[in-house]
Amino acid sequence: MRILFITHSFNSLTQRLFCELSALGHQVSIEFDIADAVAEEAVALFKPDLIVAPYLKRAIPESIWARHLCLIVHPGIVGDRGPSALDWAIRRQLPEWGVTVLQAEAEMDAGPVWASATFPMRPARKASLYRNEVTEAAVQAVMAAVHRFTSGNFTPARVPGAAHEPMKQADRQIDWQADDTATVLAKLNAADGFPGVADELFGQACHLFDAWPEASLSGQPGALLARRETAVCRATVDGAVWIGHVKRPGALKLPTTQAFAEAGELPESSLDGWWKAPSATWQDIAYGEAGGVGFLGFEFYNGAMSTRQCQRLTEAFRWASQRPTRVIVLRGGSDFWSNGIHLNTIEAAESPADESWANINAIDDLAEAILRCETQITVAAVGGNAGAGGCFLARACDQVWVRDGVMLNPHYKNMGNLFGSEFWTYLLPPRVGDDGARAIMRHRLPMTAAEAVKLGFYDACLPGPGFAVDVARRAAEIAAAGDLPAQLAAKKAKLEADEAVKPLANYRAAELQEMRRNFYGFDPSYHVARYHFVAKTPHSWTPRHLALHRELDWKIPA
Ligand code: COA
Repeated sequence: MRILFITHSFNSLTQRLFCELSALGHQVSIEFDIADAVAEEAVALFKPDLIVAPYLKRAIPESIWARHLCLIVHPGIVGDRGPSALDWAIRRQLPEWGVTVLQAEAEMDAGPVWASATFPMRPARKASLYRNEVTEAAVQAVMAAVHRFTSGNFTPARVPGAAHEPMKQADRQIDWQADDTATVLAKLNAADGFPGVADELFGQACHLFDAWPEASLSGQPGALLARRETAVCRATVDGAVWIGHVKRPGALKLPTTQAFAEAGELPESSLDGWWKAPSATWQDIAYGEAGGVGFLGFEFYNGAMSTRQCQRLTEAFRWASQRPTRVIVLRGGSDFWSNGIHLNTIEAAESPADESWANINAIDDLAEAILRCETQITVAAVGGNAGAGGCFLARACDQVWVRDGVMLNPHYKNMGNLFGSEFWTYLLPPRVGDDGARAIMRHRLPMTAAEAVKLGFYDACLPGPGFAVDVARRAAEIAAAGDLPAQLAAKKAKLEADEAVKPLANYRAAELQEMRRNFYGFDPSYHVARYHFVAKTPHSWTPRHLALHRELDWKIPA
């Protein structure tokens, strides 16, 4: 079938549906929801058999839904209607939530139901539930709906429902004199990544994000107690929370200590080394060991890695490689493994070009430290989505194991034709061939975990449930292998042989030469694209590589 996606953006849920439906042999084209007339034009050009709206912020016009079946993905259970569906489910601490696929009609979310799926709720941020449970349920429900549509003998049922109000800031407000830590975290989680909770820090308005519990520090409710790296700690009535990110009016979402210079006055509460703290606290880089395996976690908000975070992670990795272990597992964070350099801190820097340069060098240092590790077998356990440089940073490890369901975007060009670094020119071609590497970079399309393994880019795709346990077991097996010294010797010999042909330094220098041009050259495309990305400028057109129907030679297949 020809399936047209009308969507607000090509977010990870939309990417996943795109990959799953394409894998079934459907031809999927995408049009961003910019204006009714633009969507109408896309429909006229593509003549879709079916329209799917994975992520919409407004209604589909009657001119389209009256003539074509449009399936809307609503992140709520059957009968739930309106915006803020997930926000309310989190706030009400419902044990179960779901996704409904319904037919577009005049009233929002009130059309006949084609399919639905439910999932148990998890105490987590809204964006995390959306990227994981909601996405899995959406895949299940959309697949069922598409199957029902093709079978031609399904009549969708109308169900009674009730629309809830959009959640307002007044509903989200934190009462620091009354709310306990659990309530504060629930309120912040229901608003993360968007829109955050409107509040004040240092007497100035801002929206709060990225909250973590703190088990040891406490003080006068509402008082700011300490700072640590990017976060500040604020007392609640029964403990404290760390606030990692804020958005000040008219500014970008930034690490709290960067957004407020005043945070520098707070006492520093640093952690001693990299070992995982024994009680709950905010710790972005945390290390633990079991059975000859070192596990290095790095929980960086949105998977974005600033210059300092890369430097600290390199230091932690070097330290971990001195430990008497045989395997190091780089775990990444719970939601993202890595999305490469930190575009927000770059945008906020005095010289974004200089900061881009510092950041790419810092992430390259980390990739190089991993590549040159002679003392352990390194494993990237990619349990969360990864994009751009993050995908190649993972590939710097000897093994890459990826959780089924993870979305990968191993390319750079969407960011203003960025060339990319992280040794991708060394790491990618041997895995997928020169043509394959060129195609991945040029097509700029997402890939599923299973596709990445099939292409030979990554090594294993492990089932979602039990991923962490599976990783630990497999890593322990490598650590216990009798031939581990031989494996380490072989890896050393391979790097030496590769370097004899072309030193790593040459790959790095050639990539960075291109990046210098991106950062400092005449063409400002990277700076423009980065600005639009971090400012979340609404799309004004759909990129040609997504909108098949807008290709010059586009013809409906006979
Ligand atoms: N730097 C800063 N912020 C980043 C980031 C980066 N490299 N990558 C993602 N983010 C932020 C997004 O702005 C968004 O912020 P929000 O919490 O304010 O909404 C959040 O992470 C989630 O991103 P989103 O695009 O909504 O997630 P997704 O899972 O739907 O899509 C990607 C994932 C990887 C496709 C997409 O985020 C992306 O293209 N990132 C840019 C990657 C890049 O070009 N890196 C630099 C080159 S090395």
